[in-house]
Amino acid sequence: MKTILLTGGAGYIGSHTALALIAAGFEPVVLDNFANSHPVVLDRLARIAGRPLVLEQGDVLDTDWLQDVLRRHRPAGVVHFAGDKAVGESVAQPLKYFHNNISGAVSLLRAMEAAHAEDPTTAPTLVFSSSATVYGDPASVPITEDFPRSHTNPYGHTKLVIEDMLYALNAARPAWRMGVLRYFNPVGAHPSGLIGEDPAGIPNNLMPFVAQVAVGQREHLNVFGDDYPTPDGTGVRDYIHVQDLAAGHVAAIRALLDRGESFTVNLGTGRGHSVLEVVRAFEKASGRPVPYRIAPRRPGDVAQCWADPGLAQRLLGWQAKHTLEEMCTDAWRWQSGNPAGYRS
Ligand code: NAD
Ligand code: UFG
Repeated sequence: MKTILLTGGAGYIGSHTALALIAAGFEPVVLDNFANSHPVVLDRLARIAGRPLVLEQGDVLDTDWLQDVLRRHRPAGVVHFAGDKAVGESVAQPLKYFHNNISGAVSLLRAMEAAHAEDPTTAPTLVFSSSATVYGDPASVPITEDFPRSHTNPYGHTKLVIEDMLYALNAARPAWRMGVLRYFNPVGAHPSGLIGEDPAGIPNNLMPFVAQVAVGQREHLNVFGDDYPTPDGTGVRDYIHVQDLAAGHVAAIRALLDRGESFTVNLGTGRGHSVLEVVRAFEKASGRPVPYRIAPRRPGDVAQCWADPGLAQRLLGWQAKHTLEEMCTDAWRWQSGNPAGYRS
């Protein structure tokens, strides 16, 4: 069984990917420092998988320890989820983001390079969690991978810098296999309702906020702007079920291991939904009202953003399957069963 190391594997996307890898016959090793996750995730994963998962608790900034982890597990591939992801916090604390995200990636790459020097028989294989944020304010939609990249905040800047680091390293080391995955808007939860997104404090993102309104933890949703040039005036995004995203990682790992060629692909559905469409779909899925108020636009938001997912389909044979209704149904199952997230 091939081992896959998941940095940030206890987080929202990493935990779902760990289960998808098990279902596909891989052995995930979850590496996390629990800076933005809870150790109880491992108990939930064990309940779903029917057996405990391997955990390495520690920090990706610790290169020597990472090297030791790589030496002990000899993973066939690494998925690098670990990092900080809150856009607003990155504006207030840019150094935190440059350090944890960029230095974290350098630390991992150096550890992988050292492990490869010790055992040159296998090619270093890495999947990186990038984001549609690298497209900045796109000139048009749908977005293809060759669109120009830019950044509007330090978080987005770190994703751009890390992508460029990977491209430079790959140019110098063509034997390395790298899959850069640009996620659009991951939402939803595992159908068991046992794992899901557990944001600390007030959620920044739409779906967890809507879920907390539906469960009665917050009075109303602020809809950030209804005067965008979109069909109903509210922002349009490409929401993708986290289960589809997890499947995308399995497809990416398989493609890298089987074909050995690096790639950069969008992971999205190719469909956009407005804020008000999400509100209505969530009301339907939960049977609860989601009161909202129109508020001013949020600085830095773009009107619309959705993917052309054609390249991922062609290269990885992967396509998103789940509808917005399913995303809301699964998010609601998680939220209503765990009103305070993993602390419930
Ligand atoms: P998350 O915060 O739930 O997961 C990240 C995990 O990394 C957490 O468990 C955290 O404890 C861990 N971590 C952070 N710094 C670490 C360090 N130095 N050492 C070890 N572990 C560390 O986030 P997520 O939503 O699962 O996102 C995973 C990745 O996908 C991130 O890189 C994020 O930027 C990227 N991404 C997320 C979204 C999204 O909307 N969720 C969109 C695009 C890209
Ligand atoms: N929105 C509201 N009210 C809220 C939260 C969001 O109206 O309380 C609106 C936003 O204005 C936007 C839409 O809902 O129109 C989606 O907002 P999110 O914050 O959920 O998602 P974004 O597309 O703004 O940002 C997400 C991630 C970023 C990432 C970006 C592109 O949070 O990290 O996708 O991948 F960079």
